[in-house]
Amino acid sequence: MKRVFVRTFGCQMNVYDTGKMRALLAQDGYAPTDDMADADLVIVNTCSIREKPEQKLHSFLGEAFAIKRSADRLVTVAVAGCVAQQEGNKLLDRYPQLDLVFGPDAVPSIVSMVRAAQDQPVLDTTFLDADDYVFTSELDPDAKGAVGAFVTIQKGCDNKCTFCIVPTTRGTELSRPSAQILDEVRGLVAGGVREITLIGQNVNSYGLKVPGEKNFAALLYAVAAVPGVQRIRYTTSHPRDMGADVVQAYRDLPQLTSQLHLPVQSGSDAVLRRMKRFYTRDGYLRLVDQLMDARPDLALSTDIIVGFPGETDEDFEATLSLLETLRFHTSFSFKFSPRPGTPALKLLERDEAVAPEVAQARLVRFQDRQRVISLEQNRLLEGQVVEVLVEGPSRHDAGVICGRTGDFKMVNFPGDVAQTGSFAQVRVTRAFTNSLRGEPLRPWVAAPSPSASATA
Ligand code: 5AD
Ligand code: SF4
Repeated sequence: MKRVFVRTFGCQMNVYDTGKMRALLAQDGYAPTDDMADADLVIVNTCSIREKPEQKLHSFLGEAFAIKRSADRLVTVAVAGCVAQQEGNKLLDRYPQLDLVFGPDAVPSIVSMVRAAQDQPVLDTTFLDADDYVFTSELDPDAKGAVGAFVTIQKGCDNKCTFCIVPTTRGTELSRPSAQILDEVRGLVAGGVREITLIGQNVNSYGLKVPGEKNFAALLYAVAAVPGVQRIRYTTSHPRDMGADVVQAYRDLPQLTSQLHLPVQSGSDAVLRRMKRFYTRDGYLRLVDQLMDARPDLALSTDIIVGFPGETDEDFEATLSLLETLRFHTSFSFKFSPRPGTPALKLLERDEAVAPEVAQARLVRFQDRQRVISLEQNRLLEGQVVEVLVEGPSRHDAGVICGRTGDFKMVNFPGDVAQTGSFAQVRVTRAFTNSLRGEPLRPWVAAPSPSASATA
């Protein structure tokens, strides 16, 4: 049996692509391993959204090549993902021991590429035409028994947010046929999955460019109608493209969870304009109002970039004040990182860079305030009973299991791992910044099995 080791950096798209690689390689006799020193095939699935993740690739490859040199068997080393797409041949030139470099569109042909790479270095960073692109339907063997699963609904992005490299590394937007998505959802539910996370770079524009295809709201209703789907999440949303029909879905679909990741990036209209986000602070606030009206317990999370070129102190204060107004439950915040080929580089040429120490100080201020707010939001739950979908054992304590609430809060509480996949009613006893602790209320309420609900 050959063994494959995959290290994944970056977003949920990469996590998903890694799963597909594992699934396809399993058909060619590769078993997954957690130990790189044991592997016949080492793959690093890379991210280039900011500079830092890109640096991680270089230290990882050092480790992989050391194993390749000392192993008494043939070890194939591959770079996949967005850095592969962006750098292509340059990686093969820079690292003579590298066997294979391939971009996100080439994932479906991984088996043939790995075979070819046994003889000579292989590069595949072509973007496929819509007619040729295949969304792989094989399921990740490693994800067996998981309570939740990602399902890709779209690849690429047609937006041109000026800071973002994704349109370069993942190409133009392509929606996956809804029939295929629903088939995959049915297959996952049959395997015991209860929670489906629909993923795409800009899910709200799903289907709009395909005549006769469902739009995103219609897709949500169709997924919710699959018997056995207990929870639906999705990511990532672009505020501009979130339609009234999706807002309505929050009224109609109990399966749609009360957590929404809605990246705002900045609270300043001037910065949003330069980012080419095509919404204003007020527009975002109005959208959140509508969403809260439809689902009053909605827990919002967001992405923030500080230090975007030209960001003034006032612009940054506007971002802080947005945090105070909306009290995001969590957020991912980053310092602007100039990416090759992105339009924001032109702003840097106009000398609009924010000094690194200023950007760092803004990031610290934002994150400090967010931490306090996250904790305050979680404390509101102390003493309350929440419904938790059990995901498995807690990472830290024996006899403790964990799972998430509908609004995506991680809860740790005493229990038995056999309860994985069930819903538990848990009283929250203590809130932390990133998780909750609790006590189960009463005996387990088992989730209805997919077949039981199919006949309901
Ligand atoms: N610099 C900093 N952050 C970025 N992001 C995307 N591109 C950049 C960049 N060049 C952030 C955005 C996006 C998240 C996935 O990563 O906030 O929503
Ligand atoms: Fe990047 Fe904007 Fe597309 Fe998101 S919507 S992937 S931030 S270009």
